[in-house]
Amino acid sequence: MDKNAFQVCAEVLSNAEAGQRYRRMVLLAPEVAAAAKPGQFVNLRVGGGLDPLLGRPFGVFFAEPDSGRVEILYRPTGRGTHMLGAVQSGSRLGLVGPLGRGFTIEKGVEAHVAVGGGTGLAPVYFLAAEAARSGLPVWLLFGFRDCSFGLPEDLMRRTGAHFRLSSDAGEAGCLRGTAVDLLDLVLDRELAGKRTAVYTAGPAIMMKLAAEAAARRGFPCQASLEAHMACGLSVCRGCVVAVKGTAPDGGPLRRPVCTFGPVMNAAEIDWDRYLQGG
Ligand SMILES: Cc1cc2nc3c(=O)[nH]c(=O)nc-3n(C[C@H](O)[C@H](O)[C@H](O)COP(=O)(O)OP(=O)(O)OC[C@H]3O[C@@H](n4cnc5c(N)ncnc54)[C@H](O)[C@@H]3O)c2cc1C
Ligand code: FES
Repeated sequence: MDKNAFQVCAEVLSNAEAGQRYRRMVLLAPEVAAAAKPGQFVNLRVGGGLDPLLGRPFGVFFAEPDSGRVEILYRPTGRGTHMLGAVQSGSRLGLVGPLGRGFTIEKGVEAHVAVGGGTGLAPVYFLAAEAARSGLPVWLLFGFRDCSFGLPEDLMRRTGAHFRLSSDAGEAGCLRGTAVDLLDLVLDRELAGKRTAVYTAGPAIMMKLAAEAAARRGFPCQASLEAHMACGLSVCRGCVVAVKGTAPDGGPLRRPVCTFGPVMNAAEIDWDRYLQGG
C-alpha cells in the first residue's frame, strides 16, 4: 500500500442525489481528509462484505481536514456503483486513500482553469476549491450534454471559483458547445493575455482537446486519467497507459495510472493511444 495512504472503516454520513445525474457520498475519515490532495483518489469497498472483491476508485470530490469529512461524487453506471447508491447513512465502508499523484498547482501563472466532464468532475472540483481557498484566481468549467445534468448551484458556489457551464443545447446559463469550446472562450476573452494553467479530467477526447488548447497557447496542462484498476499497486499492469517515448523493447512506453498518475503532465501522454484505450 502507498505509504501515505490510510486503510480505514469510514462511516457514511450521507449518500444522496447531487443533481439529476450524480450522487454525492460524504464519509467520515479524518486521516484521509487531512492528507488528501486534489487529483488523488480513494479505493472504496462498495459492499459491506467481500462482494465485489475489488474496491472501486473514486476521485476525491472534497475533503475537509477540520471536520474529517471526505466526499466522492459518482454516477451509478455498473454493478458496484449501483450497490454504492443503495448504501444507507450510518453504514461503514472500507476505504483506502488518499492514493496516487494529484495535481500540482502551477506557479508562475496568472490564472488557473479547471475543465471537467463526465466522471471527471470530482478531481477538478477539488482542485478549484483548494486553489480558490489559497486566494488564487480560478475558473471551473463543466460541460454537460444537458444543463439539467449539472450539480446544484450551492455545490458549485462552495468552491469559491468562477464557474461556467456548457451544454449541447445552450440552455439559459450554459454556453452552447463543449467544455473545450468553453475553455477556448474563457482563455480568449475573460483571460486574454494572461498566462494560464489548465487542469482537466473527464472523457478522453475532452482531455486531449483541452491539452491541445493549452499547448497551442504555450500553457501548462495537467490531466487526471482514468483506467480500469485491479491491484492499485503497480503490480498487475492492468491500468497502464501509453506515454510519449519508447520502451526498452522498442514498443510504446507505458506507465501505470494507479501509482504514476492519475494526474500526469498532458504533454507527456500519448493521447491517440489513450483514446484507443491503451
Ligand atoms: C483514478 C480514478 C478515479 C475515478 N473517479 C471517479 C469518480 O470520481 N466518480 C465516478 O463516478 N467514477 C470514477 N471513476 C470510475 C469508477 O471507478 C468506475 O465508474 C467504477 O469503477 C465503475 O464501477 P462499477 O462497479 O459501477 O462498474 P462495473 O462495470 O461493474 O465495473 C467492473 C470493473 O471495471 C472497473 N471499472 C469500470 N469502469 C471503470 C472506470 N471508468 N475506471 C476504472 N475502473 C473501471 C471497476 O473497478 C470494476 O473492477 C474513477 C476511476 C479511476 C481509475
Ligand atoms: S491497478 Fe494494477 S498496476 Fe495499476
